[in-house]
Amino acid sequence: MTDQELVQKAIEMQNFSYVPYSHFPVGAALLCEDGRVFTGCNVENAAYGSTICAERTAVLKAVSEGCREGWTAIAIAGRGEDCCWPCGACRQVLYEFAPELRVLAVRGDGSYQEAALSELLPCGFGPKSLQ
Ligand code: THU
Repeated sequence: MTDQELVQKAIEMQNFSYVPYSHFPVGAALLCEDGRVFTGCNVENAAYGSTICAERTAVLKAVSEGCREGWTAIAIAGRGEDCCWPCGACRQVLYEFAPELRVLAVRGDGSYQEAALSELLPCGFGPKSLQ
């Protein structure tokens, strides 16, 4: 799967977003080295703090399907002018499984920027930190 195809999947996932409060749909698509793609959307809640971001939905789907390793890239697509970079909580959740993950942050017009998760969360605390 190309980066462009992964970005497209993330954009399509915005259609499933449940966003009655922010009206800001976000879609995500997580690619594994075996070719599997786990998708996600944001799911908001009347108790706002219980909202789940799109990328965390994708992570939970991957892990709960037995896929914890070999993650190569994640695309995260919002509809704003700015790139949709992952929030701090999601950076931490992604770091647990793939500290070197490639992150493709997509703008509303479909253009995107790439960064390594290790750049987005420098000196992160992960499983190795507990050894
Ligand atoms: N959101 C995501 O799904 N991912 C991000 O990386 C940034 C924020 C969602 C959470 C909430 O539903 C909406 O965007 C506005 O913050």
